[in-house]
Amino acid sequence: MGGGAMWIIANFKANKNIKESIDWVEIVGPKLEKREDLKVVVCPSFSAIEQVKKTVLVGNFPLMVGSQDISKFPPGSFTGEEPAQFLKEFIDLSIIGHSERRQNFSETEEDIKQKTELAIKSEIIPLVCIQDKDGQIPSGCSLVAYEPVWAIGSGKPDTPASAGEVALVLREKYGENLEVLYGGSVNPENAEAFIQQDNISGVLIASASLNPEEFLEVIQACSH
Ligand code: PGA
Repeated sequence: MGGGAMWIIANFKANKNIKESIDWVEIVGPKLEKREDLKVVVCPSFSAIEQVKKTVLVGNFPLMVGSQDISKFPPGSFTGEEPAQFLKEFIDLSIIGHSERRQNFSETEEDIKQKTELAIKSEIIPLVCIQDKDGQIPSGCSLVAYEPVWAIGSGKPDTPASAGEVALVLREKYGENLEVLYGGSVNPENAEAFIQQDNISGVLIASASLNPEEFLEVIQACSH
């Protein structure tokens, strides 16, 4: 583990509607222990964020809420956008620059830089996703996820040793304050091996986060 708290982050992608997202929170939330050294985050779709946040508050669950993207624009005439200033009411963190956004929505390094800046201005933690050790990390960003494209949703994760090596290179380049997560086919069987790496501070999980029981198994595997 790379010092500090361990992050376990669920990225639902566009897989759960409002009801499904709330049902998940109502199963996972009560099972979470309040621990200073563990940060569990759920990132539902935009339409579910408000109700997920309400469910977390009502249940007083130790669960942070994140978005899967954020606008690169401030509030204004930007049809269809979700600015940081609006989202901050509900979220603690935003995933930025996921490879699916880079591929399907042509997101550029400049877009990612602007999104990161606006997130920080609104006191939202930017979680920037990069694909290899040469990925660019915008200034002010201190939480990144190393997610090799071929490992995402493929059932073929990178090896913990290789992920640890990438994390080491990134921390040598950007400083010890950088926290590096691994993402790509993380599941209850392999999660612990990733977080045992010296420079890895947690995991970003999509497929194995969708089933709440499986996600809880990941947390359990990482907690001993
Ligand atoms: P996966 O996706 O866990 O389904 O491999 C990870 C991600 O895309 O963040």
